[in-house]
Amino acid sequence: MPTEAASVPAQAVSGNGRTVCVTGAGGFIASWLVKRLLQKGYTVRGTVRNPADPKNDHLRALDGAADRLVLLRADLLDPESLVAAFSGCEGIFHAASPVTDDPEKMIEPAILGTRYVMTAAADTGINRVVFTSSIGTVYMNPYRDPSKPVDDTCWSDLEYCKMTQNWYCYAKTVAEQGAWEVARERGLDLVVVNPVLVLGPLLQPTVNASTDHVMKYLTGSAKTYVNAAQAYVHVKDVAEAHVRVYEAADAHGRYICAESTLHRGELCRILTKLFPEYPIPTKCKDEVNPPVIGYKFTNQRLKDLGMDFVPVLQCLYETVKSLQEKGMLPVLPTNDQDQPMITPTITSPATIP
Ligand SMILES: NC(=O)c1ccc[n+]([C@@H]2O[C@H](COP(=O)([O-])OP(=O)(O)OC[C@H]3O[C@@H](n4cnc5c(N)ncnc54)[C@H](OP(=O)(O)O)[C@@H]3O)[C@@H](O)[C@H]2O)c1
Repeated sequence: MPTEAASVPAQAVSGNGRTVCVTGAGGFIASWLVKRLLQKGYTVRGTVRNPADPKNDHLRALDGAADRLVLLRADLLDPESLVAAFSGCEGIFHAASPVTDDPEKMIEPAILGTRYVMTAAADTGINRVVFTSSIGTVYMNPYRDPSKPVDDTCWSDLEYCKMTQNWYCYAKTVAEQGAWEVARERGLDLVVVNPVLVLGPLLQPTVNASTDHVMKYLTGSAKTYVNAAQAYVHVKDVAEAHVRVYEAADAHGRYICAESTLHRGELCRILTKLFPEYPIPTKCKDEVNPPVIGYKFTNQRLKDLGMDFVPVLQCLYETVKSLQEKGMLPVLPTNDQDQPMITPTITSPATIP
């Protein structure tokens, strides 16, 4: 039977001998985070709501998992289960959260659950908590000047979130504010990552909400695109950002994790170039107003920690390929004349006409 050290690549031992916990380990982002932590030599406790559920099997198949990954049952609304999972760990990555705009499903686990996580972390003597927040806690503010880059000092306006019934942004904002409050009260070291919409290959066996953002344009279910813009980031970069802010001793505050912003029309045009065989919408639902200009988010704080970001074009390509490989999206025949003009080796969005 291999020893723990034997399963860790020699050049990647920053986590060797260190035990951390990842909440919601089976989710889209958390699965990549667990993979990255195992690559770096960490011993990982992953919390899931049902360790026996085959939907978590992909975690057990990760390199290093046999020796250094334990899956534990925990629910965000069950503080005792969190304390049991965190005991003996040096750090927590709190990624678990519903991802929905249904207030019934979202508000309690996100807000109360994050408080329970923070309290359990303080009670168990955790050194640092990395919380997976969201850009939704940052940009939802009608008074923000759209020409100014959005940075870590910006906060969403709760009244505006409520008025627009954006319960996901509302709950994540209150959850993040609550996390900072408990951190201050209990003297807990908290660092926050605020990703924009996350895409890239899936490790888990089901389609998550952010992947569906692209999927709906490929299946024909969306006949038009909305007049809106969105920022994107690759899931591997999100996982890497979590590890970087955990390992950098002087990391503090909030880290916006974003690559670039596209109008939905640009997104559809890129998808059409890459995968012309799918029925991707060509028309905007709003034929009256000019295209909405999206916010630009600065990722400078993560660049300062040495990060580079996968270009959005590559990210979209890998997302669709992954959906095909996992059988979630049918592979359609391509007509030679329709072959994409661009290939995934082209890495700059500027190459898209
Ligand atoms: N994907 C994005 O574009 C994006 C962008 C910004 C921020 N985020 C944040 O990133 C985190 C992960 O998102 P994701 O996209 O990876 O979502 P996901 O694939 O849906 O994963 C969410 C995870 O949360 C767990 N969970 C939900 N409710 C729970 C509860 N009451 N107790 C314990 N676990 C619970 C789920 O566990 P089960 O498997 O048991 O359901 C699941 O593993 C979330 O905090 C989300 O707000 C995501």
